[in-house]
Amino acid sequence: MFTDNQIFAAPLAGITDKPFRKILRKFSPDISMVTEMISCHSLTGQHKNCLRNFDDYSDEGEIGAQIFGAKPELMAQAAKILESQGAKWIDINMGCPVPKVATKAGAGAWLMRDHALAGRIISTVVAAVKIPVSIKTRLGWDDSHKDWEKLIHIAGDAGAKFAVLHGRTRAQGYSGQSALEQKPSGLIPVIGNGDIKSVEDVSKIESLGYDGVMIGRALLGKPWLLRQLTGKNTESIDIKSLVLEHLDLVLDYYGISAGVPLFRKHAAWYSAGIKNSSEFRIKVNQITEITELKTVISEFFNCFGDI
Ligand SMILES: Cc1cc2nc3c(=O)[nH]c(=O)nc-3n(C[C@H](O)[C@H](O)[C@H](O)COP(=O)(O)O)c2cc1C
Repeated sequence: MFTDNQIFAAPLAGITDKPFRKILRKFSPDISMVTEMISCHSLTGQHKNCLRNFDDYSDEGEIGAQIFGAKPELMAQAAKILESQGAKWIDINMGCPVPKVATKAGAGAWLMRDHALAGRIISTVVAAVKIPVSIKTRLGWDDSHKDWEKLIHIAGDAGAKFAVLHGRTRAQGYSGQSALEQKPSGLIPVIGNGDIKSVEDVSKIESLGYDGVMIGRALLGKPWLLRQLTGKNTESIDIKSLVLEHLDLVLDYYGISAGVPLFRKHAAWYSAGIKNSSEFRIKVNQITEITELKTVISEFFNCFGDI
């Protein structure tokens, strides 16, 4: 069974922000996490409207800061900033399929097509920081180009300490099933990712020879899941207090006017599978006032969780 330091919470843009990471750590203080992806342009330009550019990671335990971009020097500068903010390692995004990142900016998944540039980015970032560097990638650009093994070899040669592999191609986006094959020998450590939801899924990745697992969407509305996946018991959890605590963290971080609409998706995920959740979601989506939101949440979650 994997230990805590082999279990990772995945980067999820717009979701795994500082408030959500704090909630995840309540249940799993020692697991590793990766921030949402951060643009090297936005970070080095110190864009004021992007709060995560200014996060302090020194109070966060094991945390990798993920950057994306196509210019080695800017990526290195961004990595240095994040190192000085307390990131424990730098993760380079080489899998994001969104056209704005991959085809327009030549970053993210595009680097699976341009291995020479990928290698230059990795070695420039490695030379710029003292902390470890990793990459996060996919099986390949499309079904005809599943050359992840080659990219991970290049990453290792350029100084990356490990890689995360999502078992889909760029062309698949998030459709179909994630399908990881047996990890070949001779590679740097590889963390398996994609559709992992249960202890059985974790064991399957372990039996394929991977060095750890990374979990993303299964954590939505279930921040205690990582703890269960490491084989630890979770005592009964007061979901109402948990949701209200998460809301307060979001309001502290973003302020009320941005925080209330931003929390709606979390409220919906927490309510999934509970009786009358669709009525709850409709109500929450209309509320803009904080006292009313807290009242509706308290009334709906006025029960103890069954986890
Ligand atoms: C809403 C959303 C946002 C994501 N944001 C990022 C990101 O910022 N960086 C990244 O490397 N991957 C990102 N991913 C991909 C996930 O980290 C992960 O690789 C993918 O969801 C598969 O894992 P899962 O099935 O456990 O969710 C995102 C995925 C989703 C659904």
